[in-house]
Amino acid sequence: MPETAPVREIGQEIGSIMSNKPLVVVTRKLPDVIETRMMELFNVRLNLDDHPMTQAEMIEAVKAADILVPTVTDHIDAAVLSQAGPQLRLIASFGTGVDHIDLATARQRGITVTNTPGVLTEDTADMTMALILAVSRRVSEGERLIRSGKWQGWGPMSMLGHRIYGKRLGIIGMGRIGQAVARRARGFGLSVHYHNRRRVAPAVEQALEATYWESLDQMLARMDIISVNCPHTPATYHLLSARRLKLLQKHVYLVNTARGEVVDENALTRMLDKKEIAGAGLDVFEHEPALNPKLLRLDNVVLLPHMGSATIEGRVDMGEKVIINIKTFVDGHKPPDRVLEALL
Ligand code: 8YV
Repeated sequence: MPETAPVREIGQEIGSIMSNKPLVVVTRKLPDVIETRMMELFNVRLNLDDHPMTQAEMIEAVKAADILVPTVTDHIDAAVLSQAGPQLRLIASFGTGVDHIDLATARQRGITVTNTPGVLTEDTADMTMALILAVSRRVSEGERLIRSGKWQGWGPMSMLGHRIYGKRLGIIGMGRIGQAVARRARGFGLSVHYHNRRRVAPAVEQALEATYWESLDQMLARMDIISVNCPHTPATYHLLSARRLKLLQKHVYLVNTARGEVVDENALTRMLDKKEIAGAGLDVFEHEPALNPKLLRLDNVVLLPHMGSATIEGRVDMGEKVIINIKTFVDGHKPPDRVLEALL
């Protein structure tokens, strides 16, 4: 480990070795309550100063760890996995998306991969609605005006946005989060439309009063608001390509709380700049933490630093899921949140 990495307590390490606990390497700082529980259960190497690991540090980690607990900021690619020691049996990722892990290589090396689905659904759906409202009602612009000291007071034509009530929302990806967005959207008077690889069960469609579009292109051309809620996989990379973005009408707002890679960010930025669509609310970026610098100069975008699931409750729930996955695995059972490539 590099000099910056915190070292385990010697007594604790010796105790762990004596009791034959697996070495769990956690790549980022997690809530205290989670780290404490992990230290009770496992031989844990923590990252107390929370620095994002370099590739060299990650290679060190997989050489030593029996179990790795990475997050979205770690690239567990073939180059890293090829250096893993044979003792690495489980990657228990802290998060739902698994596009930062080379699943095929992990499978070939007999490494089980788990994630934390379900517990960040509601928080991410809340943030999706927050972005839909923020961009359509110009919330960030309004706050910028106040903070600039230039606000002259109320005016009938000042800061006009667009009503969302009665508009059509097209959800791309009708999994857990997409459905949670749909439930909220109905409360706001939006009509719900969706595109998904598989049509959802009729009972779900009925409960959400959701209209299925087999053709993404056709749905895109007819919506007022688009919400991206699908995972990033090889099949969804640039699903919203320059060609598809051109299908959107000029008054459309696009919101992405899923993964930046699903949208061609440069094409989107060009269209926003030329007002070819009305606006965008983005919580994720194609090359985050970097983003197209032109986005920063646009008023018709609301930009958030990947905080869709960032609640204290959510982070603790995610940590508990990680612990359950590890404990189940260590006890010789199949962990509940195994990631199966075929189901992505
Ligand atoms: C998490 C996310 O905060 O879970 C996901 O897929 O995108 C985020 O909301 C992050 O991934 C934690 O690793």
